[in-house]
Amino acid sequence: MRMSSAGATVLLGVVVGIALTVGMTASAFGGMKKGPYLIYGGANTQMDVLWQTETEEVDILEWGLAPDDLTGSCVSVEYEDDHQHRETIVDLLPGTLYHYRVNAGGEYHRGTFLTAPPADADEVKFLVYGDTRSDEDHLEDIEDHNEVCGSIVSAYTADPESQTFLLHVGDFVYDGDEESHWAGQYFAREIDGSPTNMLPMQANIPILGTMGNHERQGDLFRKYWPYPVVADRYWSFDYGPVHIAVVDQYVDYDEGSAQLTWLANDLASSTKEWKFILLHEPGWSAGDPGNNNNEDVKNYIQPLCVAHGVDMLIAGHNHNYALAWVSGVWHVTSGGGGGPLDDVDPDHPNVLAAGKTFQFCKVHIRAEVLVCDVIEPGGTLVHRFSNLEGPMDYVWVNLEWDGDEDGSWAKPFNTLEEGVVDVADGGKIHIQPGTSSEVLEISKGVTLWAPNGSAVIGLPR
Ligand SMILES: [Fe+2]
Repeated sequence: MRMSSAGATVLLGVVVGIALTVGMTASAFGGMKKGPYLIYGGANTQMDVLWQTETEEVDILEWGLAPDDLTGSCVSVEYEDDHQHRETIVDLLPGTLYHYRVNAGGEYHRGTFLTAPPADADEVKFLVYGDTRSDEDHLEDIEDHNEVCGSIVSAYTADPESQTFLLHVGDFVYDGDEESHWAGQYFAREIDGSPTNMLPMQANIPILGTMGNHERQGDLFRKYWPYPVVADRYWSFDYGPVHIAVVDQYVDYDEGSAQLTWLANDLASSTKEWKFILLHEPGWSAGDPGNNNNEDVKNYIQPLCVAHGVDMLIAGHNHNYALAWVSGVWHVTSGGGGGPLDDVDPDHPNVLAAGKTFQFCKVHIRAEVLVCDVIEPGGTLVHRFSNLEGPMDYVWVNLEWDGDEDGSWAKPFNTLEEGVVDVADGGKIHIQPGTSSEVLEISKGVTLWAPNGSAVIGLPR
């Protein structure tokens, strides 16, 4: 629901409610074992659809521009020896939403995906999460990951421009060498008889991940995530104005290694405005008692970031959120995807913000501007950072904020007045759930937006 009052002077009273919606696409369990799920391999006219069935079967994949207009189709036979299917859909239109369905043994499993935009696009949104593994002592407990997935589904449902790709910072499951952990944790299909939120998430947004230490030898990681790697598990891709290099920290990346040489050349040759590195173990983070910062990232990766204009390094490993700033490079730890949470120490070197919380990140790039939102399950914005100086393009106002304002979190706006003051003329104010009795006189152009519920603007006093 969007209401605009650009340039107007209005009296404002707001009542906002929330109706959390979780889109469901997969309707049956049947013979489907994993997926369908998606991989974006770097081409804006293609998408890979993958799934695994319980037994050998010949399936049909159909796709098109509307659920009832599936004009493309192919017959899918399994590959390798474990009933896996992988089909690359080609000749798609860039920047376009497609619908698809897999007929697996007579049962339909539906999803959608957004193809990557034209190469000269200057705006993109994408999502980040990871460390989704279960606790060693509670391997069957996937509730926390499931909640984060529900919030990710809600995020791209409310803002379809963010249904682009989801980076995963690694540690998908507790023991990546165990088939049962992939089936029971990351690709879990039900909790207490109800479908998981993993199902719609995986069916509707490509997941592009890096390997974590919990993926162990990595063979099953490669089995389920057959990314178009350069070697081992490192590769890179473009997406509109963004270049992302995925680093594999479980093969050599020190001086003189093949991976570091590739990474230096990859970053040097990219002409994209925005450059990111995705890896598992961070160089600078808010740590936890058992996880020190990774010295190899400091010694080998950070110099390349500085030399080649990398804007942000995205990692996990620690099960929390942290933001550090080192020599012009953001170092983000986004490890609150469901694994047992780790304590944070905001006094770790170069750390600007940290929080012990389940979360995911939403990155929004528009031309020269980057805004990163850190969002908890339920949709609460708990931190934002940006390269903007001065008034923000847009702010979030959270009317139910009751977080800890001890300095380890940047304070979100928790009154409408704060938001109105800080947003630029012509900016947007996103109003989170809650109720406000404030009545304000707004004398600059603003757009008011309540993403998940109802907003009543301008109630007479
Ligand atoms: Fe890890």
